[in-house]
Amino acid sequence: MKKFEKVCKTLDDTKELAQNFAKLIKDGCFINLYGEIGAGKTAFVKLVANALDVKEKVTSPSFVILNEYHTGSIPIYHFDLYRLENEGVRTIVDELREYSEGKQVTFVEWAEFSQDEVPFNHLQINVTYSDDDSRIYTFSFIGEDKNNIIEELKKCY
Ligand SMILES: Nc1ncnc2c1ncn2[C@@H]1O[C@H](COP(=O)(O)OP(=O)(O)O)[C@@H](O)[C@H]1O
Ligand SMILES: [Mg+2]
Repeated sequence: MKKFEKVCKTLDDTKELAQNFAKLIKDGCFINLYGEIGAGKTAFVKLVANALDVKEKVTSPSFVILNEYHTGSIPIYHFDLYRLENEGVRTIVDELREYSEGKQVTFVEWAEFSQDEVPFNHLQINVTYSDDDSRIYTFSFIGEDKNNIIEELKKCY
């Protein structure tokens, strides 16, 4: 499986990563984010949304489960399933399939639900803490990476 790992020592590094990544998902992408609370999943989504010219303030959807943004260059759907029970997560997987098709960017924060069995092509981002403001973002593609996102992201560095 193709992977790309980027150490971001500061939030500015993460911003640069988000800007590079945003350029590669102009045709749409479905992205699952994993990592502990506070790792930097929402921070990354915010920075990508800003890079895609979203005008409104991007906030965490952890209370509302879904936020959507339609003021940028592409529609963005941002889910956070933290508050759903396992059963709720199971029902939403079917709904998420619809979001995996079409020209839009969908982010899903799964928090502790390590659902590796998402049954359609998607990009996976694992975020881990190291110390202070340093974070490691690891990108891998599950299924066929038609737009070669991982390879293109590597080329940015
Ligand atoms: N290099 C970095 N990359 C991303 N976030 C960082 C970084 N350094 C510090 N942070 C901070 O870490 C916090 C991450 O929180 P958040 O993105 O809400 O986590 P999660 O959504 O994974 O629970 C934010 O307050 C963010 O500003
Ligand atoms: Mg979050």
